[in-house]
Amino acid sequence: MITIALPKGRLGEDTEKLMLKAGVIKNGVPKDSRKLIFNLNDKIKVLLVRAQDVPTYVEKGTADIGVVGKDVLLEHHCDVLELLDLGFGYCKMVVAVSKDIDPKSVLSSDFLQVGTKYANIAKKFFSNISIQAEIIKLYGSVELSAIAGMADCIVDIVSTGATLRENGLVAIEEIFDSTARLICNRASFYHKLNVIEKFVSDIKGALDG
Ligand code: PRP
Repeated sequence: MITIALPKGRLGEDTEKLMLKAGVIKNGVPKDSRKLIFNLNDKIKVLLVRAQDVPTYVEKGTADIGVVGKDVLLEHHCDVLELLDLGFGYCKMVVAVSKDIDPKSVLSSDFLQVGTKYANIAKKFFSNISIQAEIIKLYGSVELSAIAGMADCIVDIVSTGATLRENGLVAIEEIFDSTARLICNRASFYHKLNVIEKFVSDIKGALDG
């Protein structure tokens, strides 16, 4: 049996569809339940996990594999193997400011206050371009920090761009592109090599087909 940490929400739903298409499961997770753990068949156990916690469940070996956005992986520095780019869940990590601000003045500042859920990514980005940044760690609605005047800019993911647009912000720098990744616990990869290789090959087949 392999245990999979699935993020709740869109990424998890897309992963479920992919597993159904690949034939590794015949039925998905029941939608009308508040349960967090399911045996979908005699080979696949699913843990429903908050997206940011997926790398932790996999690193600790509670789950053998997991699905997580590259953005979360880069933020959390977990010691896991990245097996596959699943292609879906595309978004960009950007620096964004109010549309009334000159982007050049922001990126040539000596000091910036930065609102973000991604403290490590933001810290590293501004350190690499030699700007001293005070990172203001937030847990959601990050755009608000720039429009309400608490931060000079934000570092956040953009998917459709609607949240930036509707709040009068523009992206002035792209830091990286992100998609969903299949990750694996190091020991599981060694001890369950055959089942994990079979799972990966079935998923690859569904991605290509
Ligand atoms: C994410 C992200 C942006 C928004 C971008 O927030 O932090 O705010 O989605 O999506 P868009 O480009 O399609 O508008 P999320 O929906 O996770 O909510 P949160 O603000 O509570 O973190």
